[in-house]
Amino acid sequence: MPEAPRVVIVGAGGHAKVIIEALQAAGFPPPLGLVDPHPPGPLVLGVPVLGGDERLEALRAEGAVAAVVALGGNGLRLRVGNKLAALGYALPAVIHPAAQVSPSAFVAEGAVIMARACLGPDARIGRLAIVNTNAVVEHDNVLGEAAHVAPGCALAGNVTVGDRALVGAGSAVRPGITIGADAVIGAGSAVVRDVPAGIRVGGAPARPLAERG
Ligand SMILES: CC(C)(COP(=O)(O)OP(=O)(O)OC[C@H]1O[C@@H](n2cnc3c(N)ncnc32)[C@H](O)[C@@H]1OP(=O)(O)O)[C@@H](O)C(=O)NCCC(=O)NCCS
Repeated sequence: MPEAPRVVIVGAGGHAKVIIEALQAAGFPPPLGLVDPHPPGPLVLGVPVLGGDERLEALRAEGAVAAVVALGGNGLRLRVGNKLAALGYALPAVIHPAAQVSPSAFVAEGAVIMARACLGPDARIGRLAIVNTNAVVEHDNVLGEAAHVAPGCALAGNVTVGDRALVGAGSAVRPGITIGADAVIGAGSAVVRDVPAGIRVGGAPARPLAERG
């Protein structure tokens, strides 16, 4: 297997901390640094902040070959991932060694699988998707591009999560459910019916939430 590259991390918030520790646990060499227009300080968990996103082109020219997008917003993560790909960055998948990944599961580029996540047989995790800490994504699930299954979720078999959809922390999803693109499932929900694209639902059973005025 080729040696893992030193990566540039885009984003310096809380999600970046989890990414830094997952990279370290997964045996990546120390990251080159982080880029963020509004970093919390000069270092995040000891990793230097290199500047804002405008640095990405120069860093690539200076020899950086790979990047990880550490941004929680699904649409933003996808846009930034596409920009990085256009600049020629590789987007390695990051799989924490404490995750349990079926040998038949597929994890696309740029996706991150956090500690204690579980991917069942034939699960397909889309490009730039997140399966967060302690989430169960059972057999035959399909997660779209930049989808996010938040910590502690339990997705039963044959669930489909559309592009950029968020399944909020601690939610449970019944077998065979389809969650549409850009849908948001509120934290702690029980999803027992398909969720149309772009809709926010919450509760047990999950029902549409009032839109903010
Ligand atoms: C669903 C969610 C996006 C709504 O956030 P919001 O737009 O700020 O909405 P508000 O907090 O103003 O709540 C709007 C209404 O929805 C209800 N609501 C909010 N979240 C809910 C949830 N998870 N389940 C049930 N009802 C919920 C509120 O009680 C409120 O109802 P009311 O108007 O009758 O009082 C948010 O509450 C949520 O659950 N996000 C998931 C976060 C998450 O897990 N992220 C992963 C990070 S790793």
